[in-house]
Parts: sequence; C-alpha cells; structure tokens
Amino acid sequence: MAATLSSTPVWKAQTRDLKSDLDLTRDELSYILELTEKVKSTPARYAKSLDRRYLTLLFEKPSLRTRLTFELAIKQLGGDSVTVIGPIGDREPLKDVARNLDRWTNGIVARVFEQQTIDDLASWSRVPVINALSDLYHPCQALADIFTLRERFTNLKGLKLAFIGDGNNVAHSLMLCCARLEMEFRVACPRGYEPNPRIVEQARAFGGTVVVTSDPREAVFSADAVYTDVWASMGQESEAEERLRIFEPFQVNESLMAAGPSHMVFMHCLPAKRGQEVTDEVTECPNSIMFDQAENRLHAQKALLLMMLD
Ligand code: CP
Ligand code: NVA
Repeated sequence: MAATLSSTPVWKAQTRDLKSDLDLTRDELSYILELTEKVKSTPARYAKSLDRRYLTLLFEKPSLRTRLTFELAIKQLGGDSVTVIGPIGDREPLKDVARNLDRWTNGIVARVFEQQTIDDLASWSRVPVINALSDLYHPCQALADIFTLRERFTNLKGLKLAFIGDGNNVAHSLMLCCARLEMEFRVACPRGYEPNPRIVEQARAFGGTVVVTSDPREAVFSADAVYTDVWASMGQESEAEERLRIFEPFQVNESLMAAGPSHMVFMHCLPAKRGQEVTDEVTECPNSIMFDQAENRLHAQKALLLMMLD
C-alpha cells in the first residue's frame, strides 16, 4: 500500500525508531505528510492495516491529546494497545522493560522526562520506539503541526513560522521539521531560554533558515504563523512562578497578532494557559487553528504508524 503513494523511498519498517525529528529524512517527512492526507480523507481504507498489531504506550507524564490520539489511531487502524502510566525503569532496569515489551507488542510509544530514556528503550528493544514527548523533542506534535500548515497554505516551502516563548521540546521539533522542508523558523525567547544550540546547528545544517531573537515583534513580522507553548513545561513546575515574570513580554496577545500580517494564523500545541503565554482573545480568534492541530494529531500518527508497522 505504502509504495503506491509516493515514489520516494519508504522506511524499512520495524527496523527504525522515531527517537527525534532527526530520524526523519526530508523524503520520509514528505511521505508522512502525503500519507496523512490520504488517511484523513479515506480512513476506511486503512481500517484493517494494523490487524493483530499491538502497541505499548508508556507515559511518565500526563497527556490528553497524545495518549488518546495514539489509542484511537491504533484502534481505527485495526490494532490495539496497552497503556502503562508511571516511571519507566524504577521497578526493574529499563533494559529489561524494553526486552519484555518487545516480546509482547509490535511497537513502543513513550512519553518520558529524559531523552536518554527514549534512546535506551530504542537501543534495547527490537521493535520500533516512538517518542511521544521528551525534555528535548515532541516529534509527533511537529508532524501534526506541519500537516496543519500544509492544509492551510498548501505550499510549505518559504513559509515563515514564528515561535514565541520557551526554546524547548516543541520548538526544537518544529525547528528541525521546518528546516527539512525549507520553511523559515524564527524563535523569540527571553535570554537564557533559547533553544539548545546543538539543535539549532543541526537545523541549520539541513539548510534551514533559523532566526533566534529576543524580540517577539521581529519574529512575527511578515510571519505566516505564530506558535506558542506553555512557559513552564511538565517537570518544570517549581520554576513556574519565576518563569511567569521572565516570560511576561513574550505573551501572544492581540497587540502581537497585529504586528504580523492579517493572514497570520495562531498555533498552540495545547494545553494552553490562557492569560500567560496567550490570551483568551487570541485562542478564540478566527485565525486560531489550534484545534485543527489537535485533530491532526490523530491523522498524522496514523500515517506514522502505517509507515513504521504496516
Ligand atoms: N500537545 C500534547 O502533546 O498534548 P498532551 O500533553 O495532552 O498529550
Ligand atoms: N512543552 C510542553 C509541551 C506539552 C505538550 C511540555 O513539555 O510540557
């Protein structure tokens, strides 16, 4: 099925992981976007694609969208999943957990505190491991977001995405995907909260334009989309109060929206803290596409699973 959708090479299924966006070549990323469109428009065609395939979902942190869209995606593709909530590797070594799970299930989806946990799961398990958010990356979110931009603007090449706030996991994944697809990525953050310089270099090495600034207005000038995320991510709760003060000039509000073009869309991975990184007016404005992003988590993850497991 996969080979008929594109002439570009497809992953050798079951031998690869999605530890981070770095695992996706440009062709693979384009292929996922193409397949997401097919899966979204003709879901019934894929209703048995994961027949008798089972996945383990591991969650060290809370989730609404990621957990439910993976569970639903797997079921709607004809497979099933089991979910474990809690720390991975506390009760027994992670290398043993990985080698139990790969005897029972065909893939592992994991949301973790440390990227090292994803890397270790991938190196010990014989089945694909998908990163469902770590301290460094959120690749499944970025796939849905880029697909949402493609739906809105058709052509991705040359689009300008401005990210305002913490140069963290979501920003890293978006930056890497934008760079792969010849989009311009601008990130405005308080000093000391810039993206990881190693990941910025990796994005630039893909040929992408990445602008790092501390001026939100510079970032949104002529941008096609503005994106934000919470100021204190899961695991940073103790810093929340201090971050409120530091990030205050980085709120996406009507004044910042007015500094961009009238067609500029507003994006958020959710959950949103209204009154902090974004105002209620902006989340509810006609240019807000954050619920399209949430919907597309389902379709993009179906495409990812098909590519890895079908
Ligand atoms: N955007 C996102 O990953 O949402 P959850 O934390 O609810 O999964
Ligand atoms: N940066 C946020 C994203 C939540 C989807 C976090 O890691 O908590």
